[in-house]
Amino acid sequence: MQETQKTVVNCWNEWDPLKHVILGRADGTMVQAPEPAIERDWPDDGFPLGTYGPLPQEMADKANEQLDNFGKILESRGIRVDRPTPLDFSQTVQTPDWKQASMFGCMPPRDVLITIGNEILEATMSYRSRWYEYLCYRPLLEQYFKEDPNMRWEAAPKPRLAERTYKKDFWKEWNTLSEEEQLERSRNLDWALTEVEPLFDAADMMRLGKDIIFQPSMVSNMAGADWIRRHFPDHRVHVMNFKEKTQVHIDSTWIPLRPGLILHNRERDAVPEQLKMYEINDWEIVECVQPQRMEKARLSYCSIWLSINSLVLDPKTVCVEAGETAQMEQLDKLGFEVIPVPYYDVAPFGGGLHCSTTDICREGVCEDYFPRQVEGF
Ligand code: ARG
Repeated sequence: MQETQKTVVNCWNEWDPLKHVILGRADGTMVQAPEPAIERDWPDDGFPLGTYGPLPQEMADKANEQLDNFGKILESRGIRVDRPTPLDFSQTVQTPDWKQASMFGCMPPRDVLITIGNEILEATMSYRSRWYEYLCYRPLLEQYFKEDPNMRWEAAPKPRLAERTYKKDFWKEWNTLSEEEQLERSRNLDWALTEVEPLFDAADMMRLGKDIIFQPSMVSNMAGADWIRRHFPDHRVHVMNFKEKTQVHIDSTWIPLRPGLILHNRERDAVPEQLKMYEINDWEIVECVQPQRMEKARLSYCSIWLSINSLVLDPKTVCVEAGETAQMEQLDKLGFEVIPVPYYDVAPFGGGLHCSTTDICREGVCEDYFPRQVEGF
């Protein structure tokens, strides 16, 4: 650990040379108790609907081994790596509005925190089980706030997550719909969240310098996009949608790799009008290859597309799951040095290489990569 490295909070995009990250931990992660926003129903893996509990210890140990190993790889490249402080995620939590039988975990810091410029912003989150997750990061945030006199520390308004935040009986109805009907509802952003209050997970955004991409999803609503737009008045916030029934987090769908280049999930079509800004500014959008892993991991709510959930270390270097050989080859051909990182065992804890990190410092300044803008986008 390079504890002596000075703390500087600074990050404008997804690719500038990485200097400092937070890397999650698998400890104590739960299959959450059901709540209005999400229900887990995994009878074959020992968690039928209504049941909840910690993921098996041997799975957590394996995941932690891979997380620690990734931490070492990053440190060997001169990147400072900090880790969150897990809570007892099996505890019941409550606010005056609700009571929830379990929390979730702290493997994916990407979901909770986003650094934009010299600001670290705590997301609202939209699951009751994740309402208190920011507490795992508070020891680090307090430390950064002391060490970097220029750091701005912000938290989006804590949401109520009361009954009116969610559509009543959403999951009951959703499970009776055909695939076509589910896609239609997803096209209309008609998921469990209502628009009564701003809601977003930090992982539904991508930073492209002056431009921020925001994806409304099962955990982020349009009021959330509006809040981000008003909160960052010097940025341009663009909403993008993709063809996916249960879209959660943008980082297995739309991956900025370096200025001028996006890796796109080949199965999740973008809306053509929303590609215009990229076209007229000469950005290339490359369709990713098919993942090597054909089935999602046991007890994982993430898809096989964690294959593109890569972490860019600088515009020439990218970390990719070690089993995803075709994906590595594609990135190699695009001119990257590819660092293979074994990470399959981390997936059930909430994601891949990108999810499990959040950037605190990347060199560089705010640039305008899209001088030509599209009216209404
Ligand atoms: N929902 C995405 C998928 O399964 C996984 C993205 C997880 N990302 C994250 N930041 N936790 O394709």
